[in-house]
Amino acid sequence: MKVAIVTGGGQGIGRCLVKRFVEEGYTVAVADLDGEAATEAALLYGAGGSAVPYQLDVADEEGVQKTIADLISRFGRIDTLVNNAAIARAHAAPIESLSLADWKRVIDTNLTGVFLCSKYAVPHLRQSRGTIVNIASTRAIQSEAGTEAYSASKGGVVALTHALAASLGPEVRVNCVSPGWIAVDDWKKSSLAAPPKLTTEDHEQHPVGRVGRPDDVAEAVLYLSSGRSGFVTGQNLVVDGGMTKKMIFVE
Ligand SMILES: NC(=O)c1ccc[n+]([C@@H]2O[C@H](COP(=O)([O-])OP(=O)(O)OC[C@H]3O[C@@H](n4cnc5c(N)ncnc54)[C@H](O)[C@@H]3O)[C@@H](O)[C@H]2O)c1
Repeated sequence: MKVAIVTGGGQGIGRCLVKRFVEEGYTVAVADLDGEAATEAALLYGAGGSAVPYQLDVADEEGVQKTIADLISRFGRIDTLVNNAAIARAHAAPIESLSLADWKRVIDTNLTGVFLCSKYAVPHLRQSRGTIVNIASTRAIQSEAGTEAYSASKGGVVALTHALAASLGPEVRVNCVSPGWIAVDDWKKSSLAAPPKLTTEDHEQHPVGRVGRPDDVAEAVLYLSSGRSGFVTGQNLVVDGGMTKKMIFVE
């Protein structure tokens, strides 16, 4: 048996990751701040015990320790940690009005959460010669105005990824995936789920001709968490339909 932890696994990209890891034969810990979403995802994709919900704030050290300890007592091993949980859209504001509390909440969740989950999973990942896959963002390398906290947190995730890769090899490989625009509306918990509202322009501005889907990210995560990527560590795999390679001039 292989065991994966997906933080933020209750909704969005994380929910799709739970589905795909279960399909690959993993037992999956669905760890989400939203306990209702975690329970729903675990029931939907892991009926029969192959997905287990945990209500967890990844920024809460004691909660992370307890979750990992519980997981080990139930299943005895961890093979893959996917650090996916993040505050994605909240707290976008001009820097003059971005409060220190909001800055800290974004950094605590998006960056410190990756540190904490990695720290407590690493002893078990060393034993299983496992993998960590962090979900960063193309906003680690490019920005819109008013996104300082989110962009800084994701830049930190990319740097933490290569630092961990250097520290944890050869036992543990560590990589990250940087998604571009991924439509997640239909992967929310049932009370919030809705079909994505996307225009032709939304799709056509991408070199591949469409907005991304959670499965696009899942393919990259499954590759980086498996032996198929055995010679790859410390990398940032950009999954953005080509948007960060598109040169833009206004003439
Ligand atoms: N969707 C995109 O376009 C996009 C683009 C680039 C990067 N990303 C990254 O992909 C990841 C998933 O994004 P998404 O769009 O699926 O987000 P989402 O908001 O749909 O889902 C995020 C999940 O994480 C959970 N969560 C939030 N804070 C948490 C915490 N402190 N502890 C545990 N769980 C917590 C939420 O409850 C939610 O279920 C994030 O890291 C995000 O930054 C998304």
